[in-house]
This record gives sequence, structure tokens and C-alpha cells, in this order.
Amino acid sequence: MPRAWANSGVNLHVELSGGRRRVELETALREAVRSGRLPAGSRLPPTRALAADLDVARNTVAAAYAQLVAEGWFEARQGAGTWVARRAAAAAPTPRPLSGDPRPPRYDLRPGSPDLAAFPRADWLRATQRALRSAAAEAFGYPDPRGRNELRAALAGYLARARGVDATAERVIICSGFAQALAIVAGALRAHGTSRVAIESFAHPGHAAALTASGLTAVALGVDDDGARVDDIDEIDGVGAALITPAHQFPLGPTLAPQRRLAAIEWARGSGGFIIEDDYDGEFRYDRQPIGAMQALAPERVVYAGTASKSLAPGLRLGWLVVPPSLAEAALEAKRLTDGPSTLDQLTMAEFIGAGTYDRHIRRARLVYRRRRDRLVRALEHRRPDARIGGAAAGMHVVVELPRRMSEKDAVARGLERGVALEGLGEYRLGEQRRSQALVIGYGTPAEHAFSTAVARLCAVLSAD
Ligand SMILES: Cc1ncc(COP(=O)(O)O)c(C=O)c1O
Repeated sequence: MPRAWANSGVNLHVELSGGRRRVELETALREAVRSGRLPAGSRLPPTRALAADLDVARNTVAAAYAQLVAEGWFEARQGAGTWVARRAAAAAPTPRPLSGDPRPPRYDLRPGSPDLAAFPRADWLRATQRALRSAAAEAFGYPDPRGRNELRAALAGYLARARGVDATAERVIICSGFAQALAIVAGALRAHGTSRVAIESFAHPGHAAALTASGLTAVALGVDDDGARVDDIDEIDGVGAALITPAHQFPLGPTLAPQRRLAAIEWARGSGGFIIEDDYDGEFRYDRQPIGAMQALAPERVVYAGTASKSLAPGLRLGWLVVPPSLAEAALEAKRLTDGPSTLDQLTMAEFIGAGTYDRHIRRARLVYRRRRDRLVRALEHRRPDARIGGAAAGMHVVVELPRRMSEKDAVARGLERGVALEGLGEYRLGEQRRSQALVIGYGTPAEHAFSTAVARLCAVLSAD
């Protein structure tokens, strides 16, 4: 007998047909959020009421709510109830204003993108010409699902040299950005028998959604000043893998402390689990040498993932995986079900790396972003000497605590009034862990000529009392 619940307040209808009630309820609630039937901000019924409506145990409803809070779909506060999180339905990366939006902000200080105006067009064009001239006719045929050999070999060399990755061309898979790389790893993990994956409690919401969409359960793992609390994984039931950002935690910014790296590897070796190392901006480290990838500590347990989205441009959709031998077959199977970047872009990237142009471009970009970082931090410190700034040692974003009594929502609204797009830290909160109200400021996006004005307007937002 299907059990149905129609809540007049939120116009929701859930059907449970028996079997594993909790899993079914979770699936139905996720689907209701995804389809928009449960809109962001809507309040869920109390567990007792929903349990009575559905004729299931109250614990079943409470466990389903807790799971969806951990995955970032719902938010809950002791005594205040549970509601649909603001960003729950947004599985896509940071939304950009649509061209039809009334007044898209002129200055974009949201994280996620490098300076697109600085894309090295002339160098890329030369590399494309070289690639086209030398490509054999077979290059225009249906591609190898692992990607072009030329690029896999170039990346294996580059990653070993620049990021300390233990890589051979055979273990590299070329993907359409990290987004596809994660979906492929998720598919491989499922085939390997994994059902639960730990994800940092502040993370890219699209990544939790991608795990869920692949049929995995995402479980929040706390983050502190030493990075992900990997020492807690043991205490989470049944976790078979952990997705972490060791070089520069996204979005909070700490580097995974050396003892935590070791603890993560010890956990993976002891439990037979896997670490997915998201090295999205590992090349951009300003105050000391880049921190090498942790993959080299245990290449048999760490899946290394990289992307050209920060180093070149997200529009290329170029990403790569270095896969442990025990996951290689399953990853290839998962990759076969999808596609990858165009062969021509892959050959161009191989040329770009092989000729040393990629290294030169990164060195140049690193200088530009370091200068931007310095200007931003100086301006913020001048305007608000008491504000805590996190994550400034690397990458293209910092986390800035808001003045007392200013909420993230207020700050974003003030930004809009001044033509600046801003984003609150809350957009990235996946678990129950709380932090002070803060903004995640991406300083990569504005074009060079617009940067000073963008920073001045941000300072005005933060100092308006
Ligand atoms: C934490 C993190 N990892 C990876 C990426 C890159 O994703 P993709 O390669 O799919 O563009 C991003 C992009 O913003 C990110 O925030």
C-alpha cells in the first residue's frame, strides 16, 4: 500500500511504497527539492507530524532529515526546525547572472573563476595551429575514452614535476573538468562497493550533489584551521572514500596539516578506502613553494584530480584524473558511459604543456593573482583592521569575516546596490558545522582595469554601518 503525505503548507506529496522507508523518504525529499516542489527556504513539517502522516517511525523521519542536512539539502537549528537550504537545488557551479537579468552587477567578486580576459589567446592559437598541423588523420576519429595519449603523457610529466604526483600516462584519464572527473570516480567507487563518501562540511555544493546523483551518500566531515578533520572519518559509519581539498581547502582556505595527511592515508590503508584529492588551484601558492600533492604518499589509495579551470579557463572543460590501479578498470568503465573534451583541445593542451607555455602562463598568472591578493588584503586590513581574513596564502579567493551585526544576506544586498556581486560563506555550508558570518571573495574574476574599483566598493560594503 503506498503511503502518501500531502502537506498543504508546502504543497508536497511523498509516496512510500514500502521497503527501506528511510532511503525512500530521502530520495522522495531530494526529488521534491530538485524539482522545485519544495522551494528553498520552505519549512519541513515536524518529524512527529510527518511520521504520523506517513505511518512510519519518528526516528525514520529524523534520520532522513539529518541525512539531508549533512548533504546540504536541508538546514536545521536546535529548537527552530528544519527547512530547505537556500542553495539546495543548485547543483551547478556558482550561478552567473543571465544576460537577461535586469542589472547584472558590474563587478564580480564571487569565487570560482580566473580572469577570463587574461586567457592566453595568442599562445593557445599557436598551439592549436601546431596541433592541427601535426595531427594524424586518426585523431579526428572516435576517441579513446581515456583521452589522447599525447595529453596523458604531457600531463603525467607535468604533474610529476610541478605537483609531485606519482603519475604515468597509463593511469591518467582526461575528463571534462573536475565536475566530470568526480562523476567518473563516483561511478567507479560505486562499482567497487562504496556507498558513503565523506565530503568537507564547507565545500562546493555541486560536488555533494554530484556524489548524490551518482547514487552515493555524501556525509559531512568537519573542517578546522588544519583542514579537513580526517581523523574523524573512523567515527563515521561505513565511509568508503573522502573527497578533500588538501592544498587549499575550498572555500575556507587552510592547507591540510602534515599529520592530517598522514592520518588520511593511514585511514585509507587500514580501511581499504580511497581519498579523492581535488587539487583545483594547487599551482597558486604565494608565500612559499607550492605544497605537493598528497597523492604521492599513497598512489594506490589516492585518486588525484586536477583541472585547467583556474589555471586557464573553465570554458575549456579540461580536467584530469590519476587513478590508483585498483580503481582503473572501474573508472574506465564509468568514463566509457560519457564523453570528454574535444580531441583538438586535448592535442592543443598537450602542445601547450610540451612547449613550456603552460608553465610560463602559470608563472605569469601567479604573479598577477599574488599582486591582486596583496592589494585586496591591504585594502581590507586598512578599512577593517579587526576583520579576520582566511585562506589568503593561496588560490584566488579569501574568506572575510563580516562586522558584527552584518549578516551575509545584508552584505550581499549592499553589494548589489553598489554593483558588486558577492557571495556569503553559507552558500558552501554542507553540514551542521557553524562559522561566523563571512564572505567568500573571489579576486580572480574582475578584469585588471576593474579590480581597484571592485575592491573599493567591497570596502564600502564592509564599512557601511
Ligand atoms: C573546489 C573546486 N574544485 C574544482 C573546481 C573546478 O571544477 P571544474 O574543473 O569542473 O570547472 C572548482 C571550481 O570552482 C572548485 O571550486
